[in-house]
Amino acid sequence: MTKNLPNRGKTGDNQIDFAEYLKVHRQTINDCLLTLIPPESTSSPALHTSMHYSLMAGGKRLRPILALAAAEAAGGDARTVLPFACAIEMVHTYSLIHDDLPAMDNDDLRRGRPTSHKVFGEGMAILTGDALLTYAFLILSSPHYGSDIPFHNRLRIIEELAHASGIEGMIGGQVLDLDAQNKSLGLDEVARIHSLKTGCLIKASIRIGGIAAEARENEIEALSEYGAHLGLAFQITDDILDLEAPEEIMGKPKNSDLVNKKATYPTIIGIEASKKKAQESVEKALSSLYAFDHQADPLRHLAWYTIKREK
Ligand code: IPE
Ligand code: IPE
Ligand code: MG
Ligand code: MG
Ligand code: MG
Repeated sequence: MTKNLPNRGKTGDNQIDFAEYLKVHRQTINDCLLTLIPPESTSSPALHTSMHYSLMAGGKRLRPILALAAAEAAGGDARTVLPFACAIEMVHTYSLIHDDLPAMDNDDLRRGRPTSHKVFGEGMAILTGDALLTYAFLILSSPHYGSDIPFHNRLRIIEELAHASGIEGMIGGQVLDLDAQNKSLGLDEVARIHSLKTGCLIKASIRIGGIAAEARENEIEALSEYGAHLGLAFQITDDILDLEAPEEIMGKPKNSDLVNKKATYPTIIGIEASKKKAQESVEKALSSLYAFDHQADPLRHLAWYTIKREK
């Protein structure tokens, strides 16, 4: 247990206090992100300000927490993966900045704040996203970070993140999502978009945690399966919250999908059937972890959190 971060958050008999676990891990990630953001003195001060603005606006940090939890599940040291987990959060934050642009979802609110382009202008928002994306890969490839991770695993992690955030991952999904606007799609097509635009990065976060912890291949396979089911549950829930959750809690505009005429799970099968589908996906995610011991309990809690969250 000494290898893992959250001794706070664990009770004596291996039960975890999940609320405390989330709190401690979020804080750890926020602290690390703060140390990673290039200081004003070494980069454009404007870029420092805009990167800090979006990164430190209070996201849930689900993807980096999943990376840490996957490393713990595989018996590894969560601290080893921490800078890499933060790099994943940078890629995610970049995706949100670009997703909100007028040319995409055209949203004005993100993480409870006006969106990057509203504050800094569109050009700067595009560049801030670009900066976060490239900086993430600098962290992953820099000898300053993750030096405990063997070179071949580091290379594999870089490939995982590039693949998941790129053409056959998040960007590919965002392209399909953009193209799908105003179109009536079938459930399979929506599931494919969800898997690419959201599922791939979630799955990669978990795989990266496993790879950094030198998990065995069969464990990485199981973690991948867990991640794929979790990704679908997460985006279905996002679609439901878009319709149901108050803007003040979500920190992003309500009914964005309706305004943009997006095909979503709730628009195709209704809210109740969507909730059921999300729950089934969580159950499948949990089944994928059957061979893991109590060290995977945070991943189990995170699966339920994905659909029970209020934002
Ligand atoms: C929002 O992700 C974008 C989707 C893929 C649905 P999150 O809901 O994880 O956003 P933050 O990071 O908490 O702001
Ligand atoms: C976005 O999906 C997924 C990304 C890759 C950013 P959404 O467009 O539904 O995400 P929100 O609702 O704006 O956070
Ligand atoms: Mg979108
Ligand atoms: Mg959006
Ligand atoms: Mg959404």
